[in-house]
Amino acid sequence: LTSQPYPRVKVANIRNLRVGEPVSFNYPDEHSPAVLIKLGERAYGGVGPDGDIVAFSSLCTHMGCPVSYSKKRFVCACHYSMFDPAKNGQTYQGHASEWLPQIILRFEPSTGDIYAEGVEGLIWGRVRNVL
Ligand code: FES
Repeated sequence: LTSQPYPRVKVANIRNLRVGEPVSFNYPDEHSPAVLIKLGERAYGGVGPDGDIVAFSSLCTHMGCPVSYSKKRFVCACHYSMFDPAKNGQTYQGHASEWLPQIILRFEPSTGDIYAEGVEGLIWGRVRNVL
């Protein structure tokens, strides 16, 4: 997966982020919804001065329902799977057995811009992440 030519996409600027307020975007293409979140606590794969900005595919790994961010977790309303955004999207409840795919981010300190640069894990419904 890591050898795929992932696009580099600007997702947000750190000045516009608030703790606990999710930012929706699409990555690596327009058919793949994702969410960026500033958690307010250090996270695995987190970027920014506090190491707390992470992003994930928002398609549940069970059957592809949209997950939503609430109270420091991603929750799927279809069968109540839950994923931990501070721990690489680890699933800890419900039907999903695969972790939520994590979007690899890069923070540019000079501008405050945050870019998406790759995906760890396979996005639901795909045979490869970059089609
Ligand atoms: Fe999310 Fe089933 S689709 S738990």
